[in-house]
Amino acid sequence: MSWHKYYEAHLTTADEAVKNIKSGNRVVLGHACGEPGALVEAMVNNAENYQDVEIVHMFSLAACAYCRPEMKGHFRHNALFVCGPTREAVNAARGDYTPSFFFQVPELFRTTMPVDVAMVTLTPPNEEGMMSLGTSADYDYAAIKEAKIVIAQINRQMPFTYGNLIPVEDVDFFVEHDAPIPELPAAKIGEIERAIGEHCASLIQDGDTLQLGIGAIPDAVLMFLKDKKDLGLHSEMLSDGVVDLANAGIINNTRKTLNPGKFVANFMMGSKRLYDFADHNEDVLIMPVDYVNHPMIIGQHDRLVSINSCVQVDLMGQVGSEMIGTTQISGIGGQVDFVRGAALSKGGISIIAMPSTVKGKVSKIVPQLDFGAAVTTSRSDVDYIVTEYGIAHLKGQTLRERAKRLIAIAHPAFREDLMQEYRKRFGAED
Ligand code: COA
Repeated sequence: MSWHKYYEAHLTTADEAVKNIKSGNRVVLGHACGEPGALVEAMVNNAENYQDVEIVHMFSLAACAYCRPEMKGHFRHNALFVCGPTREAVNAARGDYTPSFFFQVPELFRTTMPVDVAMVTLTPPNEEGMMSLGTSADYDYAAIKEAKIVIAQINRQMPFTYGNLIPVEDVDFFVEHDAPIPELPAAKIGEIERAIGEHCASLIQDGDTLQLGIGAIPDAVLMFLKDKKDLGLHSEMLSDGVVDLANAGIINNTRKTLNPGKFVANFMMGSKRLYDFADHNEDVLIMPVDYVNHPMIIGQHDRLVSINSCVQVDLMGQVGSEMIGTTQISGIGGQVDFVRGAALSKGGISIIAMPSTVKGKVSKIVPQLDFGAAVTTSRSDVDYIVTEYGIAHLKGQTLRERAKRLIAIAHPAFREDLMQEYRKRFGAED
């Protein structure tokens, strides 16, 4: 059968397609901008016909209606990363959180978390009958390969990206529904973020390959790279800030030791400008997370510089990035993948950058992480910590020296309290 005939024969409506979800199924939703809005809406409208359907995903820009209290019994969310719309359900015990390194999520789908139904967004097929995952290859690619049933929303507004093509035969039901790709509002960059960005940029050299996380701090770092040359990008996420540096030829990927000439990421989130930049751009590869985030792939880049953020750092250099006390506010994501990958990279470094306080009121450098909070990046993995007050290089340093360096970049209002803790642990300062 030609791919055209296969496609026509498997075309249906959203309402019909979601009838293939059965009570007790595990349903994986496309990640972030790849979430198939029309399919999720049809599934939620059909809630009365389901019991105990497990909904698995990471970041979402949508409303996540299946997390609402009235959906209890019909749906239960299992978060691999907690985000705004899912936070309340997970912390009210109507949902669950499964800790995992991002690069291992596809392996979970192959082993302990078998997938019954994958619901994803794809572009229409090209002449060869291949569709693109567009903004999100990450775990979506593995979900398609592993699921018993694949339902795809075919959205003509999804950019066609390379590194993730799917043949029509991998999909069981096609639902054509065009919709704008969700956009991420630009982060607010203030004086503190600018100072952090400038410190981080001072650690970046011409020719380095960068990984940048989400939010104001990575965006601020990009603002201070305008006088650098020949930078490369191998990142979990591709964001708007990269487009300006690409157009200016500052990020040109020429000196990358793996995938030279290519921007490599496993998902992208930003504005339409970013999506237009990536559309049919052979220099952009949006690839599965078990490749992009694998520490041994990351480590094949010389001078890989990884920049991420956190909630708290204790005086030993233990980094908490996902919980406030016992409340899960986000997830591990790719932080540890890149911290470890950077450690394997020749000349590579990893930076955890954060404001020194929460709105000037609470220090983010603390004697101990808040009671109940998980350690995300361990003290043996941590490398650089950056705040608006400077840079603390912790790798290879004693606990005493780490504490001293961290106190030096804490907000001045909290340094004396931290010094009291220092003296308790290590005696008088020498
Ligand atoms: N104590 C109490 N509250 C704290 C806190 C602390 N030490 N640190 C942060 N918060 C609060 C903030 O006030 C904010 O609350 P609000 O939403 O009510 O304003 C909330 O936690 C989020 O903090 P914020 O600093 O605004 O978040 P961010 O957008 O800069 O993200 C992380 C910071 C740590 C949550 C985010 O970087 C993350 O999830 N990291 C782990 C995953 C990762 O690194 N992935 C790799 C790259 S994609």
